[in-house]
Amino acid sequence: MNRRAIITGTGHYVPPKVITNFDLEKIMNTTDEWIQQRSGIIERHYAENGVGSSDLAYEASLRAIEAAGIDKSEIDFIVAATLSPDHYFPGIGVMVQAKLGIEGIGALDVRNQCSGFIYALSVADQYIRTGTFKKILLCAAEVQSHSLDYSDEGRDIAVLFGDGGAAVILEPHDADDGRGVLSTHLFCDGRHVQDLWMENPSSRRSPTFSVDLFERGGFLPRMDGKNVFKNASERMPEAVMIALQHNGLTVADIDLLIPHQANDRISQMVARRLQIPIEKTARNIDRFGNTTAASIPIALDEAVRDGRLKRDDCVVLTAFGSGFTWASAVIRW
Ligand code: UT7
Repeated sequence: MNRRAIITGTGHYVPPKVITNFDLEKIMNTTDEWIQQRSGIIERHYAENGVGSSDLAYEASLRAIEAAGIDKSEIDFIVAATLSPDHYFPGIGVMVQAKLGIEGIGALDVRNQCSGFIYALSVADQYIRTGTFKKILLCAAEVQSHSLDYSDEGRDIAVLFGDGGAAVILEPHDADDGRGVLSTHLFCDGRHVQDLWMENPSSRRSPTFSVDLFERGGFLPRMDGKNVFKNASERMPEAVMIALQHNGLTVADIDLLIPHQANDRISQMVARRLQIPIEKTARNIDRFGNTTAASIPIALDEAVRDGRLKRDDCVVLTAFGSGFTWASAVIRW
């Protein structure tokens, strides 16, 4: 018998405040036309001051737990993915655990940015396959709006990102019906650290944070957008092909491709390179922007709830982001 991890519940939560491109026009030097043409984004959600990633992860987790039809006390491990933790340390996994009131179980944080969900899925998958844990809560959440640079220097990034959270419950599936997480594939090229990063606060600096750093915006994210774009649109199709080949599948077997929602032009290019019909590609960046680790599970939850994803469907996930890291996964739903 081949034990696999199966996703038994999904959920997502975005903060209620919607920020349109026109709202951004009022606070920075940009236009709705530029943002839509270059990224496909129309609006995104922003968290209020005082709300952190752990709060979004918690709300999403409640929805996933309900969808899975389990009691939160049955969860025996938490994996949390974020690049925007509430605090420099500890991570958000322990905070989600405390909010849920399920003290004692382990909680692990994964810091793999836009690839965070798939990296976290690979971790949870191994624990389930080996029988270590039986009900894992995997949550991913980002609050990015509190640390964006709305000046001209940072506007390329600022218009892209949004806040949001999502979660899934993973359980063992022992039936020989081919369902579950078939495989995960992880990659990185650390030579590109500086192509998309938030350099500070940094443990290299003493003191870690200073007034001077604050004054020159040294704590804001920076990106070489063109290089990220080029690599994302090449690495994601490559990762999908590796995952398909690993499972003896072809592009024609895919029922739903969920690429990380980085830029709709990237998603379209990924679909074109794979020669998969665009209708089989999940695209919701117009409403959420890039929610980093949360983007794939938000799209997954939407596909589940609107009935697009059906039992036995072949779902392929792929992501690319800061690091550079990239990844893919195949799930028989
Ligand atoms: O999850 C991974 C995370 N990141 C990504 O996936 C992002 C990948 N990169 C991209 O999506 C694109 O590179 C961007 C959307 C960020 C930028 O699109 P682009 O077509 O590469 O534009 P660009 O950087 O070449 O900039 C073109 C112009 C520049 O002005 P000049 O030099 O031509 O006068 C920019 O200063 O657009 C300007 N610009 C803006 N204008 C209005 C840059 N950001 C903005 C803005 N509004 N927000």
